[in-house]
Amino acid sequence: MIPWVHLGTAQIPNNGGELKFSQRGDEFSIRLSGIRGELMNSRVFNSEKELAQLGCAYIKSTANAQVLVGGLGMGYTLAETLKVVNDSAQVTVAELIPEVVKWNQGPLGDCAKNPLKDPRTQVHIGDVKELLVTRQPTFDAILLDVDNGPEGLTHADNNWIYSVSGLEDIYQTLRPNGMLAIWSAGPDYLFSVRLKNAGYDVDTRVVRARKGKGSHHTIFLARKK
Ligand SMILES: C[S@@+](CC[C@H](N)C(=O)[O-])C[C@H]1O[C@@H](n2cnc3c(N)ncnc32)[C@H](O)[C@@H]1O
Repeated sequence: MIPWVHLGTAQIPNNGGELKFSQRGDEFSIRLSGIRGELMNSRVFNSEKELAQLGCAYIKSTANAQVLVGGLGMGYTLAETLKVVNDSAQVTVAELIPEVVKWNQGPLGDCAKNPLKDPRTQVHIGDVKELLVTRQPTFDAILLDVDNGPEGLTHADNNWIYSVSGLEDIYQTLRPNGMLAIWSAGPDYLFSVRLKNAGYDVDTRVVRARKGKGSHHTIFLARKK
């Protein structure tokens, strides 16, 4: 059995605990401190890719599409977004924790084939919220996978994203017919209602953690009318 090797630790802002980054052979893991368990594993990424495919389906051939991905994690959603959109698109990835960006520039880079090196990628180090409160119609698609979903917060400050006022602000940063796609560990009927109340057309899809198997996750698809 290959042992896990600890590669790094990062602080989550506002006393949110720590992220611990480790490697075992060609497998990588990012864990939350305490009993909160594994946040990401490099072998489990199907639903992260589906988030990009579903969220960007409408803008495959849109010229100069602007996409926001939050957060970076192990880069799978970002890499899939870059596959779906065309050469004229710009993709901004927002990542709260600077070390996560460094890990992706280093040992994690190969997992998702180095999406940070793609010339269409721009990195925003900081809270994705900073890009979602501008009230300027900026993005054709916003893909959010920053937490476990509306009911499973690991970072309390992310509450805002799932609140009515957060969803209304995000609506304003979408261009006409823009798509907000949100990854969630499971279904949440009340969250769908909040999305509708904030003005979106709402659809939900169940996707698998691994291709054709593994846990069931939910992608909320909320389209600006
Ligand atoms: C589950 S991971 C994302 C996995 C990613 N979809 C992938 O394909 O690997 C969540 C990421 O969001 C980041 N994050 C959490 N809250 C954030 C926020 N408010 N703004 C930006 N990034 C955030 C975390 O540091 C972590 O890297």
